[in-house]
Amino acid sequence: MPTPTTSSIKACLETRIAAALAAAGAPDAPALVQLSGKPQFGDYQANGCMAAAKKMRTNPRQFAETVLQHLDISDLAEKIELAGPGFINIFLKADWLTEKINTQANDDKLGLAMPAKPETVIVDYSSPNLAKEMHVGHLRSTIIGDALARIEEFRGNTVIRQNHVGDWGTQFGMLIAFLKQRLLEDPDGHDAEAELGDLENFYRQAKKKFDADEAFANAAREEVVGFQSGDPASCEILQRFLTVSMTHCQAVYEKLGVALTRDNVRGESAYNGDLPNVVTDLQAANLLDESNGATGVFLDEFKNKNDEKAFIIVRKSDGGYLYATTDLAAIRYRTKTLQASRVLYVTDSRQAQHFAQVFLIAKKAGFAPEAMSLEHVPFGMMLGTDGKPFKTRTGGTVKLMDLIDEAVSRADALVAAKNPDLSDDARNEIARVVGIGALKYADLSQNRASDYVFAWDKMISLEGNTAPYMQYAYARVRSIFRKAAATLDASDMPTGTTPIVLEQPAERALAVKLLQFVETLDSAAQTSLPNQLCSYLYELGGTFMSFYESCPVLKSEGPTRASRLRLCDLTARMIQAGLAMLGIKTIEQM
Ligand code: ARG
Repeated sequence: MPTPTTSSIKACLETRIAAALAAAGAPDAPALVQLSGKPQFGDYQANGCMAAAKKMRTNPRQFAETVLQHLDISDLAEKIELAGPGFINIFLKADWLTEKINTQANDDKLGLAMPAKPETVIVDYSSPNLAKEMHVGHLRSTIIGDALARIEEFRGNTVIRQNHVGDWGTQFGMLIAFLKQRLLEDPDGHDAEAELGDLENFYRQAKKKFDADEAFANAAREEVVGFQSGDPASCEILQRFLTVSMTHCQAVYEKLGVALTRDNVRGESAYNGDLPNVVTDLQAANLLDESNGATGVFLDEFKNKNDEKAFIIVRKSDGGYLYATTDLAAIRYRTKTLQASRVLYVTDSRQAQHFAQVFLIAKKAGFAPEAMSLEHVPFGMMLGTDGKPFKTRTGGTVKLMDLIDEAVSRADALVAAKNPDLSDDARNEIARVVGIGALKYADLSQNRASDYVFAWDKMISLEGNTAPYMQYAYARVRSIFRKAAATLDASDMPTGTTPIVLEQPAERALAVKLLQFVETLDSAAQTSLPNQLCSYLYELGGTFMSFYESCPVLKSEGPTRASRLRLCDLTARMIQAGLAMLGIKTIEQM
């Protein structure tokens, strides 16, 4: 897990309170700082005293009093209170908040301190199997992975995207055999290429033939041997197939605005050459055993169905290698060549055990250094409104391209209803941004660990925690600024040196919220939970609305107006940056 590099309010308080805990006799006790639930308990509270006192078998309230004697945060807090059995309530000082918010407003990174030494973070995401066309099953990995990569980039780390596509394995034998046959029937290759345009159907036809025709099935098996042993004809056809399939994926990424390119593709086949070495090196590390003719690693930490220690096969009895072997090779590459210190694997939760086992073997074998953080980032399923896995009305798999197109056309209807006077071009552009934003946000705003219900009406709505709501909030704040620029003298417009002053409670509340951006990003990045960023942005939108209702901006005067305009500007920039990290665009007018 990465440590926060930033100086969020939370991190400041944690450091100070941990020091006081240590001085009071609890050196390793965490401060447990969190936001206060109610304003009468201050802005933050620290709950670490109770647990520390319990461990020391001492009275928590008395211990908390000792901690307070050692705590000097008078520079940032105007009041500290002890409540209940030992909660420390902290009320932040207006001067300190004012200073911090002014710094934040002038910072391109919105208050985020950049790491002294950037980490190299690999995000392994999307990673479809190229035998078929991308379908909804790939949507979550693609969207969540892209957001995690963007968050790490914004935080100043070095991000390497890896698209670990499935481009190897027995199903490709079947596809090669089928394509070969189609090319025989059609020497120019025109029809075959056209058929490949619909990969899904092509796969279905090949599979049908494979199941029905013994001779074809044998030919398919021979093709597997063919490309695995490097036979030029088989390899050429395989390449042809993979190129078409990858072009499909690339079209999806482009339409979705996902930052994956061909350079990020490093498929399973890339590791073929290293697979025998993986086995030899596992042997050298004394980890290998045989079981029923297969070669693999026994892991005490996992049990098989019969409650015996699990056996993870790395080479089958016929000499073939497996998904786990490839992943072990990939870890070596990511360690040695890419020099990563953290790797995120974004796949559905059904692969949790696979990764837990592979990571354990990699550590035991020394393929990954102890300090390297290998993290599976699991997610649940996409469900239809009937609570069952998301399907087309007729029960088929939903192609990603169709889903994206539908999102855009539904957004078009929303935009047309809201703003009927837009030109077609303007409306199309807004619909694209809103539709794709809605699709992404609906996924990202849920805790990824659970299944989520995919409901068009809810996600393409201007109400609730949705992309259209956030995009509209952004456009509204921007419109205040536009209006200011059109009606005020240039000398009344704020600049980088215009001070932000926090006088009204709503101004203070907005400033506190804005300053919490930094700790939100720390937490979202450490836990790989983009929904924390979504919740934050949604709350920011709400806090801004309260501010806007109680603190007139354009109707106020002089320095107050200029200060409030700066708060508006900072809010807009933050919403824009936050949405950008989620892979979502903003528009100036909606
Ligand atoms: N291709 C795999 C699938 O479709 C996902 C690969 C994930 N990444 C990895 N390194 N195993 O399920």
